[in-house]
Amino acid sequence: MNISKRINKIPPYLFFEISKKIKKAQSEGRDIVDFGIGDPDIPTPNFIVDALIDEAKNPVNHQYPESDGMPELREAIANWYKKRFDVNLDPSSEVISLIGAKEGVGHAAFAFLDPGDIALVPDPHYPVYSRGTWFAGAECHFMPLIEKNNFLPDLAAIPDNVIRKSKVMWINYPNNPTGAIADDKFYNEVIEFGIKNNIIILHDAAYSEITFDGYRAPSIMEFPKAKDISIEFHSLSKAYNMTGWRVGSVVGNTELISALTTIKSNLDSGLPQAIQHMAISALNSDNSVVSENIEIYKTRRDRLISALELFGLEVNAPKAGLYLWIKVPSGHTSSSFTEYLLENLDIVVTPGNGFGDSGEGYIRLSLTTPDSDIEKAIERLESVNLNI
Ligand SMILES: Cc1ncc(COP(=O)(O)O)c(C=O)c1O
Repeated sequence: MNISKRINKIPPYLFFEISKKIKKAQSEGRDIVDFGIGDPDIPTPNFIVDALIDEAKNPVNHQYPESDGMPELREAIANWYKKRFDVNLDPSSEVISLIGAKEGVGHAAFAFLDPGDIALVPDPHYPVYSRGTWFAGAECHFMPLIEKNNFLPDLAAIPDNVIRKSKVMWINYPNNPTGAIADDKFYNEVIEFGIKNNIIILHDAAYSEITFDGYRAPSIMEFPKAKDISIEFHSLSKAYNMTGWRVGSVVGNTELISALTTIKSNLDSGLPQAIQHMAISALNSDNSVVSENIEIYKTRRDRLISALELFGLEVNAPKAGLYLWIKVPSGHTSSSFTEYLLENLDIVVTPGNGFGDSGEGYIRLSLTTPDSDIEKAIERLESVNLNI
């Protein structure tokens, strides 16, 4: 039996490997605290689950859904964009729903890339940008995100011969894994770059709702000419604790949305309608669920940063997102420090190099760990000082 070459080209999915390690440690009876994947521990709010329960009983929702989402959901997404970003979208041509942002991000490669094309991909990055590109037979040109540049890609450093072959650029702010945010100047420059070089800008805004200390994350659609060249991916996973229900959206340029819909309608049948009703109730709600979540994550962020600093690490407080991006102590690599934390403190973190070569020298901690586990980890961290 032979499987396709594209499967062999792909490294194992990062979090799959980490969960194997966790299971092994747990089977040895160890009490593991897991700061790995960004999967909210807080349950989906009752009013959102109630929408599912009600709608599950309606036979209308027992049949195939449309791949691009019910008109009511597309309208709820457009209304949410208006309320949240003051952006106008036509729900019939500029908005579709996704089976989680991950599905749209993966399928985007098939809509926009041909074999031999280049995708400009940040390094480090959410792994689906590169995996989708490779599955589509295209190549990645990695744009390093380094601290000196505030974890923004240096557009001037992209060689001309690469630009000529590039069809898309992925950007993602608030950023996973670095926790960085982008300023208005960056968004304007990226849009200009895209228009000048005929490169589609794919903005992944999955973390736009989780922001701290008065920061408000923009939508790329707020910036002039964004709709000429870009689309924006969104997710209900993080803001509404809905990772298990798989709801996302993509909005923006009509032609790009239509191309992605062609891929989707041929490969998937969209979101179960009862789940679409959950999304409608979340998007139409006041913002209190999101504000409560932000308070929880902010408290965790601050508690953990104090403990990590006492432990001997330098940590910058992120203004957004669900992650701490932390330099490993000197003498360690991402992998060796990840191993050190697992073997000595039973703490699981994600090695930064798992998100790309420029992530080497960092680890990522997710704030989606239950408070009781965070307290356990803090006790363990306080029992050791790296500098002694
Ligand atoms: C940057 C980024 N985009 C997209 C996603 C996927 O979101 P969803 O749960 O909607 O598929 C994630 C999930 O961790 C992410 O980190």
